[in-house]
Amino acid sequence: MTQATPPAALQALSALWSPDAVADPYPRYEVLRNLSRGGVLDIPEWNAYALTGHAAVSAALRSPGARSSEMGGSGGSEGAQLLRHMMLFRNGAAHARLRGLVQLAFTPRVVEEQRELVRALLDELLGQVSGEIDVVAQLSHPLPARVIMSMLGLKGEDEQKFVRWSQSVADLLGSSNQTPELMARIDADAREMRHFFRDLAGELRAHPQPGLLSALAAAQDGEQQLSGDELLSNAVLLLTAGHETTSNLIPGGLLELSRQHDAWAAMVENPRQPNVADELLRVVSPVQLDFRLLGADVPLEHVTLQAGRQAQVLLAAANRDPEVFADPARLDWNRPNSARQLAFAAGPHYCLGASLARLEIAEVFAALATRFPQLRVLETPPYKPNLVLRGPQRLRVALD
Ligand code: HEM
Repeated sequence: MTQATPPAALQALSALWSPDAVADPYPRYEVLRNLSRGGVLDIPEWNAYALTGHAAVSAALRSPGARSSEMGGSGGSEGAQLLRHMMLFRNGAAHARLRGLVQLAFTPRVVEEQRELVRALLDELLGQVSGEIDVVAQLSHPLPARVIMSMLGLKGEDEQKFVRWSQSVADLLGSSNQTPELMARIDADAREMRHFFRDLAGELRAHPQPGLLSALAAAQDGEQQLSGDELLSNAVLLLTAGHETTSNLIPGGLLELSRQHDAWAAMVENPRQPNVADELLRVVSPVQLDFRLLGADVPLEHVTLQAGRQAQVLLAAANRDPEVFADPARLDWNRPNSARQLAFAAGPHYCLGASLARLEIAEVFAALATRFPQLRVLETPPYKPNLVLRGPQRLRVALD
């Protein structure tokens, strides 16, 4: 017989979406974990599961039958149309085709070539600063934005516009405050994006330039037949995914380090600690959760997840599963299994930019620990009203 979900679990799950939970969702994840069986909470009322355990999350993401939500139909808002063609929301052969095309431009060599750019940007952004700064405005927004713009081949003069667009897509993906005004702004931005990338693709096909966009525009004419909508959506995906995640990890990581003095002291002593990126990703989880529709049963140790149900995949909870990570909230640079973190998800949609993100994170924190060993966080910052792509709105720090 199917048992009803404990009211406390339904309450904790619903409360996750309240704006104040975004500031600290972790106690709610622990309520869910404690009510779960082996990290699986059955919610028959919603035809769903909430997964908090590392094994369950990992198995659901890797299950061959698991599908990310597809945005069907041809109607919908401008914003919804933009999402529809992103590889993130495609499955099976359609997904593999899009991912294969973009992956061509993310070879280990291309990613490693970004290291010099990241270091030059860090010199530029951190070279002249002293006293108090807002890390979000002065470091964590511009750095990843400039890196992904450079990889795409986009011009620096448009930076403010791209940052605004990627913020709009992030709001569309996870804002808990989707008012009519916000949706109207997102639609207006989506229209602008459509015009911008359509014109640019035409220009790049006629006059190819270095960068990923030219490569994608060329693919549009080749055998792979990338449609105009697919080009637009996946260029926007790269812009957003390359920016809204790393830019949340940097202030989120600094906040954690400000509370874990030993970990910061170790970094000051040796800024190239092993596992810095994986440990920060594990503890901060800039993408807190994900959804999958289970197309086939997923057998686990204590229970089998049934096909046809939706799985709420709580990456952030899995990343602090005490069964896998001892003393899970602690940043431990010598943890033997940090690389098992699931911040980049797993399975077919595993983050395409994972190696670029690791490179950026390692360089940023090494630069901060080297240049500003006295760095102090001055506030408990407000968070953006977005649980999926979670991060502080600003973070004031004293550098010296
Ligand atoms: C801290 C940094 C990052 C984190 C935590 C992160 C996390 C993730 C996660 C969890 C997914 C899977 C989403 C899902 O399955 O629904 C994903 C997918 C993706 N990420 Fe990242 N990401 C980061 C940085 C980047 C960067 C720098 C780029 C590119 C420049 C990037 C590009 C992508 C793309 C294109 C996908 C879609 C892959 C697919 O659907 O096959 N990400 N990322």
